[in-house]
Amino acid sequence: MQKKTNHRRDFLKKSAAAGASLSLPCVYSQTNTLAAVTQEKNDRIPIGLIGAGGMGNGNMRAAKAWVDVVAIADVDQSRRDSTNQSLSQGKADTYKDYQKILDRDDIKVVHIATPDHWHTKPLIEAMYAGKDIYCEKPLTLTIDEGKLIRKVQKETGRIVQVGTQQRSTFNLFTKAIAIVADGRLGKIKRLECCIGGAPQCDAIPSAEIPAGLDWDRWLGPAPQVGYLNRPDASGKKRRGNTNCHYEFRWWYEYSGGKLTDWGAHHVDIANWALKSNGQTAGPISISGESKHPVEFKDGFPVQRDRYNTASNFSFSVKYPGDVEMIIKSDGRNGVLIEGEKGRIFVSRGKLDGAPVKALDQNPLPENAIQNVYKGLPMEQNERRAHWANFLYCHREQKEPISDVHSHMEMLNVCHLAGISARLGRSLKWDDQNEQIVGDELANSFLARPYRKGFEINM
Ligand SMILES: NC(=O)c1ccc[n+]([C@@H]2O[C@H](COP(=O)([O-])OP(=O)(O)OC[C@H]3O[C@@H](n4cnc5c(N)ncnc54)[C@H](O)[C@@H]3O)[C@@H](O)[C@H]2O)c1
Repeated sequence: MQKKTNHRRDFLKKSAAAGASLSLPCVYSQTNTLAAVTQEKNDRIPIGLIGAGGMGNGNMRAAKAWVDVVAIADVDQSRRDSTNQSLSQGKADTYKDYQKILDRDDIKVVHIATPDHWHTKPLIEAMYAGKDIYCEKPLTLTIDEGKLIRKVQKETGRIVQVGTQQRSTFNLFTKAIAIVADGRLGKIKRLECCIGGAPQCDAIPSAEIPAGLDWDRWLGPAPQVGYLNRPDASGKKRRGNTNCHYEFRWWYEYSGGKLTDWGAHHVDIANWALKSNGQTAGPISISGESKHPVEFKDGFPVQRDRYNTASNFSFSVKYPGDVEMIIKSDGRNGVLIEGEKGRIFVSRGKLDGAPVKALDQNPLPENAIQNVYKGLPMEQNERRAHWANFLYCHREQKEPISDVHSHMEMLNVCHLAGISARLGRSLKWDDQNEQIVGDELANSFLARPYRKGFEINM
């Protein structure tokens, strides 16, 4: 059972203590890098890690120049123990229940890297506990969860960075946005986000729950189901098929599939480009086609023993002013941005197109990239730049580059695509009121039920 906590009351008590970080001296003027500051001040930040899987470990390695992992929460004992050894030489405190981290006054910063269905609840509780948080994308499984997160962030004023690190790649995505913001493409008319499709698999057998894994807590707010696992028969792959670690991405119960897994990255860039181009209005409709690996009825998979998120899709999202965003599984992974004067393609390895080549003759104005980066310092080592941005914003109490408000604005689009895919029909969207127009069943997917004992503590 969850420990019942009055988070609003605790928040009021703890926010004064957390505010202590406000008084840290600003010493960034010389080099503007967090690395230099840490060296200079020998001032490291104790951090609590919630979710010690692939990304939690990777992120903590990226931030290791500045943070000490002093507490680790994971519902799988083998993961919390091995992470404690690899990240903290066995010296961190380990917990099954992340609430123990939120209760500690000596920890002001937490990193949430749990599966997607376990983001909104700890994030809200952490904000009320007075923590600053780096939370992995996508922040939510539903549009209504996003409304709640934005409300609590405004109420608590906590610093929240979303793990959409493409925003901190200064030679690729950030530069692409600077090109757009400088008017080099003219008015944006069309964007294309190619994000790949989800894998399919045959029925996965029930399996014995691994020793040390608290399956009930892993499921948390999601429906109660059995543990499924089939190891890779060839023995060549690290992972087989399961409804648990890593593979949770391919189940609507725990994720939105590729539409939110990679959509959270590329639709974020497309939306950032639109906003930098002066497009203030949100989407008005979404239509398209999708294919799922299983049959669906009223938006729910009929077979419950195999991956169910969309394996192929192509959606057209319409905006006022005859602007269109395509979100599709096929094609070269990346984002195509087309304006009246030219187009560019940007991916994790490439920034291409005539307006990019033209920079040789006609470079961007000085500080153009930093300007779209909210004027914040830019850590030159891109592998750790997004973390530097968060820790800088934690120290200075500034809004980080991947804030919850812009994140939810674009995640609404990803979620709408998911609802359209699940129901197999077009949707009209009232962006002002964040409602689907004239479709009761579709609107029922704006929220999800939470399993008893795992409701969000407010
Ligand atoms: N930004 C990126 O590029 C990027 C890349 C990979 C993953 N991610 C995100 O990171 C998150 C984690 O993905 P992953 O691949 O590391 O998954 P994973 O399954 O390897 O790790 C998740 C961990 O969280 C633990 N966990 C589950 N419920 C918990 C709870 N209530 N409290 C504490 N721990 C709990 C699990 O036991 C597991 O160890 C996902 O949201 C994913 O979308 C982001």
